[in-house]
Amino acid sequence: MPRLAIKGGNPVAEDLSKLIPPWPTYSEKERQALIEVLESRRWCRIYPGSRAELFENMFAEYHHAKHGIAVANGTVALELAMKTVGVKQGDKLVVPAVTFIASASAATELGAIPIFADIDPETGNISPRSVRDIVEQEDGVRAVVAVHYGGNPVNFDELKPFLARRGIKLIEDCAHAHGSEWRGRRVGAIGDMGGFSFQESKSLTAGEGGIVLTDNDEYANKARLIHNIGRVVGRPGYEHYILASNYRMTEFQAALLLAKLDEFKEQVERKHRNGAYLADRLKRIKGVEPQKMEEGVTKRGYYYFVFRYNPEEFGGLSKQRFIEALRAEGVPADIGYGMPLYKQKAFSREAFLEVMPPGIEYPNYDKMYLPGAEEFTRQEVTLLHYVLLGEKEALDMIVAAIEKIKENVDELAG
Ligand SMILES: Cc1ncc(COP(=O)(O)O)c(C=O)c1O
Repeated sequence: MPRLAIKGGNPVAEDLSKLIPPWPTYSEKERQALIEVLESRRWCRIYPGSRAELFENMFAEYHHAKHGIAVANGTVALELAMKTVGVKQGDKLVVPAVTFIASASAATELGAIPIFADIDPETGNISPRSVRDIVEQEDGVRAVVAVHYGGNPVNFDELKPFLARRGIKLIEDCAHAHGSEWRGRRVGAIGDMGGFSFQESKSLTAGEGGIVLTDNDEYANKARLIHNIGRVVGRPGYEHYILASNYRMTEFQAALLLAKLDEFKEQVERKHRNGAYLADRLKRIKGVEPQKMEEGVTKRGYYYFVFRYNPEEFGGLSKQRFIEALRAEGVPADIGYGMPLYKQKAFSREAFLEVMPPGIEYPNYDKMYLPGAEEFTRQEVTLLHYVLLGEKEALDMIVAAIEKIKENVDELAG
């Protein structure tokens, strides 16, 4: 019987790291692109004909959006989207309880109050029923932040018409969802505005970076002004039309993103194919359940490949210990965000009130318990998207490692 690697046996996925390209990938093309910017002495995008503008057009077109506004990172992309749709101090924003904290902290940066909605533990996405309940119970909900968790598009059919009827804005947090599609349309401008991140771990990256997409001409103009400290883009100088901030992307970031765009598009297709293969193989193992995708999902972009782990099918082995065993076998698994956001110290009474404007009441995050979010975070196991750049041989190693742990779980008893 093979011994588990965590007990000194041979790792079954020892060669996995050799079958996956190191992330982020780059080639001579990226090196040249950066040197060209350097030597051009145009490092800032405020001049006409910038690389940032070209990237905005190309990324927006790929994502089936009319407009793109490139920014410094994904957190300020959400802040810009919120400001643009009119979020003001004291407004409420519905945010899924399980996501990266920026989905909520972009709101608190504007003095707006995140109201946490529950998660559908099968999809990992915001529960449309929980959104409806909140909207019906709370006054002052201005917008909903819908995170496509791991890259899994939210159910727009359930969210969009419901919110539109009530004049509540839908902001897509697409930081995980480059290339994802709902009913044949790429995400980002299906709602009112969408924000993306190009941080180093993301599936299209310039180290840092972000973009806001929209189909709304008025929002696009407003967002461009806000992001350029009240100036018209392409018109440098000192004519400012509104009071705002500087969210601009640099020309180095834009050049890297442009250089990576073709490869990224090919990687989206590859990860979609390989993700479906891995999910299909994992479904056959009792106790691991790949994230459910709804019938409207026509293309799955990835940040995380997510599956839920059930200790009962693994002789009671805890998730923590399962992940340790999996890592020892050579599979870089992780726990995702680990807890619902309302359990973060940043949402304690003291920490929350410290950053909020005077007069804002504490929403009692410390007393929250959302069953779907609790269940999902208890069970969630994640693999980062670039694992799916490995082909069948690599994916079969992941499956073999999980099967090996299941078959030899007795070695870990006690
Ligand atoms: C869901 C989600 N939203 C927003 C962000 C913020 O992006 P950035 O790190 O580029 O500021 C991230 C980044 O990790 C994210 O995962």
